[in-house]
Amino acid sequence: MIKILFVCLGNICRSPLAEAIFNSKLERLSLQDKFIVDSAGTADYHIGENPDARTIKVAKLNNLQIIHKARQITTMDFSEFDYILAMDRSNLENIETLQDGNNNIKILLIREFDKKKELDVPDPYYGGKDGFKIVYSILDSAIENFLQFLRKKHNL
Ligand code: 4NP
Repeated sequence: MIKILFVCLGNICRSPLAEAIFNSKLERLSLQDKFIVDSAGTADYHIGENPDARTIKVAKLNNLQIIHKARQITTMDFSEFDYILAMDRSNLENIETLQDGNNNIKILLIREFDKKKELDVPDPYYGGKDGFKIVYSILDSAIENFLQFLRKKHNL
């Protein structure tokens, strides 16, 4: 089982959408049984909340089901997950500050898998609805590439 955790700041916009996109790609390939997928936030602002209404809307527009309650990342996640994918460099910094020397885990920026080589998935929280469409399209392509990377690496 390969365990993947997507992480952003609040866990109501970007990372639950990333989780839903990854899950839908797994289903398309009948690979759901090979993975455990989750998401979390570095902050505690929205613990227990559903995804942002704008996240749910963009997910629906793209035929994605999104079911998640926001939670905060914990140090236990470093021993639980094989890959932690940060949405932006600020998330990555926060994650690395929390990490206590477990070197087996791979902590990466999701946009390392984006051919455009921008580093951050922009935080859409304070913007308009277009921001969520942009986030969806960035995540869809980066996650497609991430999944191809995983299939090669793990012979799936
Ligand atoms: P996310 O977006 O990190 O993509 O879930 C945000 C959600 C909430 C806040 C910031 C970003 N906030 O400041 O409450």
